[in-house]
Amino acid sequence: MTSDYVTVESYHRLQARYERLMVISRQLNSTLDLGALLKLILNAATELTETEEASLLLMDPSTGELKFEAASNMTRAEMEAIPVPMDSSLAGWVTSHNEPVLVEDVREDSRWFPSVDKTTDFLTRNLLAVPMSAQNKPIGVVEAINKRDDQPWTQDDVDTLQALANQAAIAVQNARLFQQSDFIAEMVHELRTPLAALKASTTLLQRPTLPDSMRDDIVTTMQMETERLAVLTTDFLDLARLESGRTRLHTEIFDVRRLLDECTEIVRARATERSIRISVTGDHFHADADRDKIKQVILNLLTNAIKYNVEQGAIFCAVDLRDEREGCPPNCLRVSVRDTGYGISEEDQAHMFEKFFRVAATANEATGTGLGLAISKRIIEAHGCQIGLQSKLGEGTEFFFTLPYVEGIELPNRRLPGSIEWSSPEH
Ligand SMILES: Nc1ncnc2c1ncn2[C@@H]1O[C@H](COP(=O)(O)OP(=O)(O)O)[C@@H](O)[C@H]1O
Ligand SMILES: [Mg+2]
Repeated sequence: MTSDYVTVESYHRLQARYERLMVISRQLNSTLDLGALLKLILNAATELTETEEASLLLMDPSTGELKFEAASNMTRAEMEAIPVPMDSSLAGWVTSHNEPVLVEDVREDSRWFPSVDKTTDFLTRNLLAVPMSAQNKPIGVVEAINKRDDQPWTQDDVDTLQALANQAAIAVQNARLFQQSDFIAEMVHELRTPLAALKASTTLLQRPTLPDSMRDDIVTTMQMETERLAVLTTDFLDLARLESGRTRLHTEIFDVRRLLDECTEIVRARATERSIRISVTGDHFHADADRDKIKQVILNLLTNAIKYNVEQGAIFCAVDLRDEREGCPPNCLRVSVRDTGYGISEEDQAHMFEKFFRVAATANEATGTGLGLAISKRIIEAHGCQIGLQSKLGEGTEFFFTLPYVEGIELPNRRLPGSIEWSSPEH
């Protein structure tokens, strides 16, 4: 009697699960935003397997390496910091064997790669990992971690999670393809303008009757447009890498104040051309982040503050400890670049970090691609940090971002910069 009852009950539970799975697959197919999609998959994984946490790893198509892309129990920075070796990790095993793995006690499984728990404060007791594949090729792994109330795992759990992973793989591939096609269309569109200018210039230059003064102007235009093409292609590549998740952060502990000083020196000459003063304030706070990428962000904010400033204006750079009123997470630094420029209307502020967005009223004032801030945002978010701005039309703008703070190293750095780059990326 009892066993019949259990069978009927488990049958109903199974049916309910499959119905839920159907609803979830419709949801998965309705979004092409990769970030949102990964969150949906995590939620679905914990819900369907009745577990506490879930994580998702994707394989880098060019290097074949596995990388955590989403996890309910880790921050972005933690995910970046965890290596997932193909030959000595559970996820690596699942991908290379294309088979699910159920580990009822991780302490007793040699494939379990303990670096995850060492890097985070999290304790994994048990987990189920299933492969995601598309067109018969592995693309990643979905993991459901720690059964709620330490319930036993069942074959249903394995089947349901595998069914979810199959749906998820298709949705992830679609989102990736969409991202690429969308971006390629925009990119080609942007490349056409400088190319058309170059084409027109060469045609003009071929006229034998062209006066010398005009010839000089045309050559200057050609130089500018060539420069623009060079900047565009670099930006496109940066952004494409960041968007596809192929960018790896190379984090190190560095002196943020010193980096600000270094960046202001790079742009100093350009500021002086417009009689703009730059000042830097703040202690020698240290951050744990990718120094080169943060430098790219600061240089973009600084060049913007010069380009969209008034003649004889000012720029104030600062590094401070977090200010909770502004919604900074605890334990972080706040870096800011404030200018006395045109300011940005509230309506435009909402689009500031979109690709190719440039404020119409000021687009003609300075050259640019409209990609600098989109790139900056992705770099900062890849660190698990935030970027934002406050601005008032006619008064000026402050851009700020947060960085992971490394406490207790406020002494000035003894080592002087070995080399200062004098090339100043134009955004
Ligand atoms: N400090 C600023 N003050 C006013 N407007 C700004 C400022 N920074 C950026 N903007 C506006 O935001 C747009 C996008 O900036 P960005 O992505 O760096 O592109 P770009 O500098 O290539 O134009 C700029 O074109 C400009 O209209
Ligand atoms: Mg810029």
